[in-house]
Amino acid sequence: MAEPKENLQMEKIVSLCKRRGFVFQSSEIYGGINGFWDYGPLGAELKRNVKELWWNAMTRQRDDVAGLEATIIMSPQIWKASGHVDTFADLMVEDPLTNKRFRADQIEPQSGTAYHFLQAIEASVALRNLRSERERDLAINTPMLKTDWLPKLDSMIAEIEAVIADSGFSAHDLEKIEENYQRNYPQEDPRSRGIFQNARISILLPDGKPIQSAKKLAVEYAKKQGVIGVPYFASPPTQKIENSQEYNPENGVKFNLPRPFNLMLQTYVGPIQSEENIAYLRPETAQAIFAQFKNVLETSRQRVPFGIAQVGKAFRNEVTPRNFTFRSREFEQMELEFFIKPDEVVEAISGSVAPPQDAPGEPQPNWGWQAWHQYWVEERVRFYEGIGLDRSTLGFHRQTPAELAHYARACTDILFKFPFSKRDENGNVTGDELEGIAARSDFDLSQHQRFSGKPMGVFDEELRAAWAKLPKEKQDEFRNRYYENRKRYLEKSGVESETAQKQATEDANGLAKGQYIPHVIEPSAGVDRLILALIANAYSEITETDDKGKSETRVTMKFHPRVAPIKVSVLPLLKNKPELVKKAQEVRGLLRPWMNVFYDEAGSIGRRYARQDEAGTPFCVTIDFDTLGEKPELLDTVTIRHRDDGKQERLKICELLEFLLSKIR
Ligand code: GAP
Repeated sequence: MAEPKENLQMEKIVSLCKRRGFVFQSSEIYGGINGFWDYGPLGAELKRNVKELWWNAMTRQRDDVAGLEATIIMSPQIWKASGHVDTFADLMVEDPLTNKRFRADQIEPQSGTAYHFLQAIEASVALRNLRSERERDLAINTPMLKTDWLPKLDSMIAEIEAVIADSGFSAHDLEKIEENYQRNYPQEDPRSRGIFQNARISILLPDGKPIQSAKKLAVEYAKKQGVIGVPYFASPPTQKIENSQEYNPENGVKFNLPRPFNLMLQTYVGPIQSEENIAYLRPETAQAIFAQFKNVLETSRQRVPFGIAQVGKAFRNEVTPRNFTFRSREFEQMELEFFIKPDEVVEAISGSVAPPQDAPGEPQPNWGWQAWHQYWVEERVRFYEGIGLDRSTLGFHRQTPAELAHYARACTDILFKFPFSKRDENGNVTGDELEGIAARSDFDLSQHQRFSGKPMGVFDEELRAAWAKLPKEKQDEFRNRYYENRKRYLEKSGVESETAQKQATEDANGLAKGQYIPHVIEPSAGVDRLILALIANAYSEITETDDKGKSETRVTMKFHPRVAPIKVSVLPLLKNKPELVKKAQEVRGLLRPWMNVFYDEAGSIGRRYARQDEAGTPFCVTIDFDTLGEKPELLDTVTIRHRDDGKQERLKICELLEFLLSKIR
């Protein structure tokens, strides 16, 4: 069967990543480890550039964001407070035959006919039970039983008899099997029922496929369970299935019921591997920011609204790592927690809250959570555009109320149209998540306040002063709104109603003293997904055919110069001319303190250009005889070649640095 085009594109990308040293499989020499990836020389540079650009844009270029670098392992209490210990789980299904596990929501829907199989012995036991039930019922002889129940019982008996006949087992065989079985598993043995249950299996076959293949799997499964003979039957024995996610697309076997599976990777801290020493590798970088909120606030001299940014590793024991680095088990995040005033506080200070708008512009004092949320979505899109991801390559998904976490008010996902992304009903590529921008209310700080017992609120002099000037009705209105929000949060978090009311009253009374718990807007991006997006976006190939009809496909990685792993390659025209080599090394020395320079003297100039195109180097600088003054007017000039159109221009060496810096910054 022909490979779908988008998979072919992914295959090419994965192969280039290995061939050119962008990404390698982790532990490759030992066969790899699923969900873990290493970045090679070019990938490591690309990744550094991306993180550096994010850090610059989010912290150094702004007055209102401070940075943090916290540990990966933190107090397990943090993960209790954040809800990760109890609820950070995916629903997972298992194929009972192969024991392979999948994320329940990621199963490709299947259609066809499902064949339900039971073990013969189970049918035989059921038949005997039904027959004795019939005897008992006949003896009771009530009219209702006769008209209502007995016909049903009769049809069930007939169905099972038919099924047994179909199984190929004689009554004698079944008796023998049953005897044997009862001996091994007497009634009181819990395995007795367990084995019956375990022997059940359903297999979905696409329409037209012969039932034999399903029977084969059923027999295989029965053997695995240690039971004998599996004919097909059940009630009903077959069933039409449309677009169901309950069957394994690889073999048609029906999954076990979905079970939650906690995604946190666990370890022990200290020499004793006991319950109380359990610790977790952080599944997100965000929680450290909340836990250190007060320390950062006090040491950075920031005031709300302000943010704390962090870049670092996160770990999730993903059920099905997939799509190359897109869903990995170890990955990096770039997260900002931007703390804002609750809307009641904004209104108390500014008189009103700005309505949401499409292009929010520069931050204003009267912005509530909606304007801040839109602002951050827009800021983040501008960041992606600034590193070469055109708006047309992105998509947006505003989470529906059903998708939102209970404490979140909104979440907009920024998507990138990956080669593996699905199409919607109109045939347009929808994209997969690069980053989520969530409005998380005051949930996180409140949770850490409750669990740690340490206050997470702030004092805001502006609020205190404004509050004193508000008319009483306004004070009551804001206090009531704040009270209702706090009470709702506390009750949803399991705090008993009376205590929640008392606590919410105290919190609401805090407004008059200038106190509140900040809300948060969280732009949370994945480094690895962004790297994959940049690679997919940059990948471009052309096939050229020469005069002899021989065709060659060349790959150019069209990275934006800001992210390109190598910014410039310096090439002496000939390696056996010491004056050219010396001059080229001087140029390299001039540029090297400022950017990643690659010096290459091996092979023809054309081959060297092609190698750099494949690495995504935006500029190649060639030192030739004119540089040395063969044409006196060109002394100390170089040719600079542009990767994307192959055009060349002549530039003075003394202008080179400034030219390159203007392109890569
Ligand atoms: N603090 C919020 C948070 O962690 P998330 O949507 O679970 O939210 C944020 O993760 C971002 O981290 C995602 O948009 C994605 O880019 C990245 N990410 C999450 N899980 C990942 C995985 N298994 N592999 C690679 N990147 C992942």
